[in-house]
Amino acid sequence: MTEAATALCRLADIEDGEGKGFVLGEGSARWELVVIREGDQAFGYVNACPHVGTPLEMQPDRFMNADGSYVLCHTHGALFEIETGYCVAGPCAGQSLQPVALRLSHGLVFLA
Ligand code: FES
Repeated sequence: MTEAATALCRLADIEDGEGKGFVLGEGSARWELVVIREGDQAFGYVNACPHVGTPLEMQPDRFMNADGSYVLCHTHGALFEIETGYCVAGPCAGQSLQPVALRLSHGLVFLA
């Protein structure tokens, strides 16, 4: 079974308005992904801040700012739009998270 055919999780496993992190691959092919849930939608991004490349969260699955309106980089406070990954404030303003295409099917989240 290929990675693309493997479900990451159930959409219901992610609290609405929150994110969930995943580590995929191994060795030099290892990479991190964050999936943000917004209602019945899910948005995927490589979990690396465009500022200096660190993961966005400092505690597991804590990806959002205080009111849940933006994805927050906890290293230096950059804010990213949930639906686009565009950075609206912080040291990498005007840059974007790298999007990862997702597919939802039968309540499951897949890499597209
Ligand atoms: S590493 Fe994300 S804002 Fe600096």
